[in-house]
Amino acid sequence: MGALKRVGVVGCGLMGSGIAQVSAQAGIETWVREVDQTFLDKGLGRIRKFLEDGIAKGKGTAEDRDKILGNLKGTVKLEDLAPCELVVEAVVESMDLKREVFSTLDRALAPDAVLASNTSSLSITEIAACTKHPERVLGLHFFNPVPLMKLVEIIRALPTGEAAFARARGYVEQLGKTAVLAKDTPGFVVNRLLVPYLLDAVRLLDSGIASREDIDNGMKLGCGYPMGPLTLLDFVGLDTTYYIANIMFEEFRQPHFAPPPLLKRMVLAGYLGRKSGRGFYEYSK
Ligand code: NAI
Repeated sequence: MGALKRVGVVGCGLMGSGIAQVSAQAGIETWVREVDQTFLDKGLGRIRKFLEDGIAKGKGTAEDRDKILGNLKGTVKLEDLAPCELVVEAVVESMDLKREVFSTLDRALAPDAVLASNTSSLSITEIAACTKHPERVLGLHFFNPVPLMKLVEIIRALPTGEAAFARARGYVEQLGKTAVLAKDTPGFVVNRLLVPYLLDAVRLLDSGIASREDIDNGMKLGCGYPMGPLTLLDFVGLDTTYYIANIMFEEFRQPHFAPPPLLKRMVLAGYLGRKSGRGFYEYSK
């Protein structure tokens, strides 16, 4: 199968801008769609800033930047993505919104074009069910920050066909990233293992067994993790983790997926982590 020449990204927020950037960096003509010009400018501005910072740190040249930006085409019209061979959807985490985007893409794109969702918690099979060609729908789950994280999970929904799967795998290779494959179940591989670990760290803190610093240092220095679980929770967002844990508990009904009361209380108090200035640690503005 040949290399992809034209790819689309729907949504240019935190994840969509990263996905658009790495596609353009791989030399692919990349069409990125946002809801309006203001959001589009903000998303493209984030990519430009990442590249400028790279130049300042000696990790890229002005020539690379111009080449990457030259491969990026911003639009507010979803129909502009019609000639794309693969589209990654990275809009906000809402099933209704994702189904609306997928049914529009399903009508607009060639029947063999791949439609991928970057969702962390919704069912790919449920998204695929709103299309006329569910065999070309799958999950491509990137990690934040996309330009730096090497992994992409490829998620097979029940109806996903071989051709779509092979094209998605080729795309991940073109990006220079490594794929792991998983069936469509909550958390896929990484969050399925990570979320219970994070929840256990909160239980440990809540039961007074160790301080937040000792829990974090224990895993950092004892296991070689780049950051401890409570620092990671602050980074990911306590609300996001709480939301995903609830979805996993709903599906599996196993106690280790149940969010502990302390996590819920902290979310209710607005202690969401870095983004709110306070989580397990405090962050000055
Ligand atoms: P975000 O809120 O930063 O970005 C979402 C963007 O989608 C916004 O800019 C919004 O204007 C845009 N949007 C909404 N409706 C749209 C439409 N119809 N067409 C085009 N653009 C539209 O959200 P974020 O964090 O980038 O998350 C996006 C997706 O990626 C979610 O499904 C999330 O579960 C998933 N994800 C998030 C990760 C994270 O660490 N934040 C990690 C992996 C996956």
